[in-house]
Amino acid sequence: MVKILRIKPEKIKYTDLSRIHPDYTNKMNKAYNWMAKVYGAFMLVFPVWKKWIKNVIPHIKGNTILEISFGNGYLMSQYASNQHEIYGIDYNEKMVEVTRKKMKDKGLDIHLLKGNVEKLPFPDNSFDTIINTMAFTGYPDGNKALGEINRVLKPGGRLLLVDFDYPKNRNVIGFAIVRLWEKFGDIIKDIDALLTEHNFEFEHTSVGGFGSVHLYIALK
Ligand SMILES: C[S@@+](CC[C@H](N)C(=O)[O-])C[C@H]1O[C@@H](n2cnc3c(N)ncnc32)[C@H](O)[C@@H]1O
Repeated sequence: MVKILRIKPEKIKYTDLSRIHPDYTNKMNKAYNWMAKVYGAFMLVFPVWKKWIKNVIPHIKGNTILEISFGNGYLMSQYASNQHEIYGIDYNEKMVEVTRKKMKDKGLDIHLLKGNVEKLPFPDNSFDTIINTMAFTGYPDGNKALGEINRVLKPGGRLLLVDFDYPKNRNVIGFAIVRLWEKFGDIIKDIDALLTEHNFEFEHTSVGGFGSVHLYIALK
């Protein structure tokens, strides 16, 4: 039997928020300006990314759907249809442009906006499903982001979230992947604790990256 090498529980440390630059989102946004051009190529050389994020698709429910931080719109292109009312919001203008073109080329009528997860331009209780993939670790204030997500979800609505967090079994490889992601500038958060704080009822599954990539299905 293969023995898993585990990290000690005290080594699991979330990002120290006091060290985050006050203008973090705008600093990261500069990188996304050029990433918008190469994001498709990145997904080609790293196809497992697509596999991870597509895990949300079977769990989408209801007619009104919001995808927050859709990036180059790959995932949206996989689930969107004109039978649903679909909205998307992303902070990066270039990502919005790329996705708008992608949706138009596919004949899909989607409402795409530039905006910040911390201030969603929608009324309370608007959406049946909210999708958020590989973006939550890029938000400086997880509490503010989840507060807004909660506000615009309908009661009984669901948040489908995929992102990095430490592997539940604390294996060394998954742990190293999360630490590497933090070195790239992302903010590693205790997603379970945040969802609990915001009164979500949730199920969790590890979907890849040696347990470091997680899918949450969280009900309001
Ligand atoms: C790593 S990409 C993920 C894109 C896509 N969801 C995926 O799974 O490939 C992160 C995205 O989050 C967006 N983003 C970053 N901060 C944001 C914020 N505060 N509000 C909304 N979107 C934000 C970026 O512009 C970028 O498109």
